[in-house]
Amino acid sequence: MTKIAILGFGIVGTGVAEVLTENAKKIALSAAEAIALKYILDIRDLSDSPFADKCVTDFSVIEQDPEVRVVVETIGGAGVAYDFTKRALLAGKSVVTSNKELVAMHGYELLAIAKAQNVNYLFEASVGGGIPIIRPISQCLAANEISEICGILNGTTNYMLTEMAAKGVPFAEALKDAQALGYAEADPTADIEGDDACRKICILGSLSFGRHIYPDEVPTEGITKVTPEDICYAKGINRKIKLLGRAIRTEDGKVAAYVAPHLVNTDSLLANVEGVHNGITVRGNAIGDVMFYGPGAGKLPTASAVVADVIDCVKHLKARKYIAWEQGGPAFSADPKTLVSQWYVRTSTDAFITESMSAIDLAPKLEEWNAECAFRLLD
Ligand code: HSE
Repeated sequence: MTKIAILGFGIVGTGVAEVLTENAKKIALSAAEAIALKYILDIRDLSDSPFADKCVTDFSVIEQDPEVRVVVETIGGAGVAYDFTKRALLAGKSVVTSNKELVAMHGYELLAIAKAQNVNYLFEASVGGGIPIIRPISQCLAANEISEICGILNGTTNYMLTEMAAKGVPFAEALKDAQALGYAEADPTADIEGDDACRKICILGSLSFGRHIYPDEVPTEGITKVTPEDICYAKGINRKIKLLGRAIRTEDGKVAAYVAPHLVNTDSLLANVEGVHNGITVRGNAIGDVMFYGPGAGKLPTASAVVADVIDCVKHLKARKYIAWEQGGPAFSADPKTLVSQWYVRTSTDAFITESMSAIDLAPKLEEWNAECAFRLLD
């Protein structure tokens, strides 16, 4: 039997405990041994929880217990979660997480520590909620040179845009609904301003192109400028507005990554990814285009991915799974402003589509037109 601990008993942490309990038999079969939850770390009083007997508030209890071989980090953020993750890895424990902020900011360093300690640092749940995407990119598509990843990576904003387009629900109400359904981040600013999608494209880009892409290298625009009029205009030209994260290999071997709303063709696969679902397309030189689709947020879909990683860790307690990338930095990042596309432009009096041009060439025209927003078209 392998003992594990959960750090942070919020929506995802609770879901992990529930899945481990409810599916215990199936999980034991898959892992070839039983997996027992020994500790739950949280600073709140959890005496009313059915898991109250496992609760601790001092991380060193977990850190110093040699029985604990796998630690699940569902605290979120890059503060205390960073400290605990490093300490758990250095104590020789594998770590599994859904924490995209931490992986996007410190993935290179944490993967290097895991490698040195011969343990695993796995984060399938950090991108796409319950959709398998990290393992497919790092294993199933490993024979490909990947040239582009493009996806709807945030369930909250996709839910909001879908509700706004289908039912005319106002922005604030759509956000309130997404929060009530447990899709949004603790501070939903990260969803609506695009930071959550930015962290996820950093992880996918790092994994696909082999160098760490840092969030501050990725220009990010959320959905706060999208109005019902923009949605209506898009509909009139057979398009839908979707918040996309893109990472593209440029000719000089660098990577251009960005997050922004796009007007996508209604015939495209991404246009039909609705509600809380995420859709991620990957272009490889052997496979061509492949798309991953499914629930991108929510307690149980995310817990499903976390527990799958726990099973993988238990099956590989003495072997490291190969996930790693090199250090990145400005020398490897290209400016997405050079990417050419048509644009939807809205001014105070008009809305129209431009000819194809880069964001650099568009910028002076936007000033001249006194434009309120400009979103790329994508076919
Ligand atoms: N707030 C995130 C989303 C949760 O809406 O996609 C899953 O990462």
